[in-house]
Amino acid sequence: QNERDSQFIVSDFAKTHFHRLLLNSDEGMSIGYGYLKERGLNLSTIQTFELGYSLDSWDDLMKAAETAGFDKKYLEKTGLTVIKTDDQGKDTGRRYDRFRGRVMFPIHNISGRVVGFGARTLKRDDKMAKYLNSPESEIYHKSDVLYGLFQARQAIRTQEVCYLVEGYLDVLSLYQGGIKNVVASSGTSLTEGQIRLIKRYSDNVTVLYDGDAAGIKASLRGTDLLLEGGLNVRVVLFPDGDDPDSYIRKVGDQRFTEYIETKSQDFITFKTTLVAREASGDPVKKAEAIRDVLHSIAKVPDAIKRQVFLQQTSATFGIDEQVLITEYNKLVKAPAP
Ligand code: CTP
Ligand code: MN
Ligand code: MN
Ligand code: MN
Ligand code: MN
Repeated sequence: QNERDSQFIVSDFAKTHFHRLLLNSDEGMSIGYGYLKERGLNLSTIQTFELGYSLDSWDDLMKAAETAGFDKKYLEKTGLTVIKTDDQGKDTGRRYDRFRGRVMFPIHNISGRVVGFGARTLKRDDKMAKYLNSPESEIYHKSDVLYGLFQARQAIRTQEVCYLVEGYLDVLSLYQGGIKNVVASSGTSLTEGQIRLIKRYSDNVTVLYDGDAAGIKASLRGTDLLLEGGLNVRVVLFPDGDDPDSYIRKVGDQRFTEYIETKSQDFITFKTTLVAREASGDPVKKAEAIRDVLHSIAKVPDAIKRQVFLQQTSATFGIDEQVLITEYNKLVKAPAP
C-alpha cells in the first residue's frame, strides 16, 4: 500500500464519516440536512453525490480517524487537518480539523474515488469564506478535476453535450431536475486539463454561468480556451442575479430545459452581440471589439466554421466583409480561412 493509496483511503473514510453525520447525528440532521432540504435537494441526490456534514468541532474527524487506526500524517497530507504554525511559520505540533460545521461536497475523480472536498458554511456571517476547499495534494489537482463528472459522464456521452456550470449547487439542482450531463468548474477559470477531460466524453459544451458581471466575464475567458480545444461552444445567459440553481428552482425543470434549449447561442454569436452592444456609438471601442471577436474566431480550428463566423460578424457590426477579412488576415498573419 503506497502513499497515494493511503490518501485515497483516508479521504474515503472522511467522506463516509461526513455522510453518516449528515444523516445520522442530531447536529447533522437538524443543521446540515435541514439546510440541504431548504435548498430543495432530496435524499436521492444527497446519496448520489455522497454529501455530508462536518460537526462544529475542532477534532471530531481527527478523533474518528484515530479510533479507526489511521496515521495522522494522511489527514495532514490531504488537508483534512490543518497544521498550526507559529508566527515564524514553524510547526507548533497542534492540529485541528479544517472543515467544521459545514455541508461537505466530496469531489470524485472519474473512477469515483474521493480526492478532495468542497465545504459550504451555513452561517450568514461575512467573515467566513462561503466555500472552503481541500488544498492541492498528491491525489487532488484542482486543475484536472471537474465536480460532478463521475456522476455525469454517461449522460454526457448519450446526450452528446456537456453542460458547464460554476458551482456545486448548480450541478446538484440540475442533476436532480433530470439534467444529468452537468459538471462544474467550481468557480475557477477553466483549465486545459479540465477541457481535455470534457473532450473524452463530448465535443460539445454549453456554458451555463451565473448571470452576473463576474459570470459573464468568466464565460468569455473560459470559452476562448474551449474553442482552442476544438470544442463546439454554446452559451446560455441567465437573468441578472440568477444562477442555474436559483433559476431552475424558480421556473421548474420543464421551463428550465426549454430556456436553455431556446436561449443557447453559439459562442461567437454571443460574444459578438455582447461586445457590439457594449461598443455601440463609440468607433474606437467598436474597432477594439471587432478585433477581440476576430481573435476568438482565429481560435476555431474548423475553417468552414471560421468562414461562417466572419460573415456573421460582418453583419452584426455592419462592416464590409472584405474589410473584415483583410483585418482578420493581418491579425492571424495567415491565409484567409
Ligand atoms: N467558490 C469557492 N470559494 C468561494 C466562492 C466560490 O471555491 N469563496 C466556488 C464554489 O465551487 C462555488 C462556485 O465557486 O460553488 C460558484 O460560486 P458562487 O456562485 O458564489 O456560489 P454558488 O455555487 O452559487 O453557491 P450558493 O448558491 O450556495 O451561494
Ligand atoms: Mn495530475
Ligand atoms: Mn457567481
Ligand atoms: Mn447559487
Ligand atoms: Mn452561483
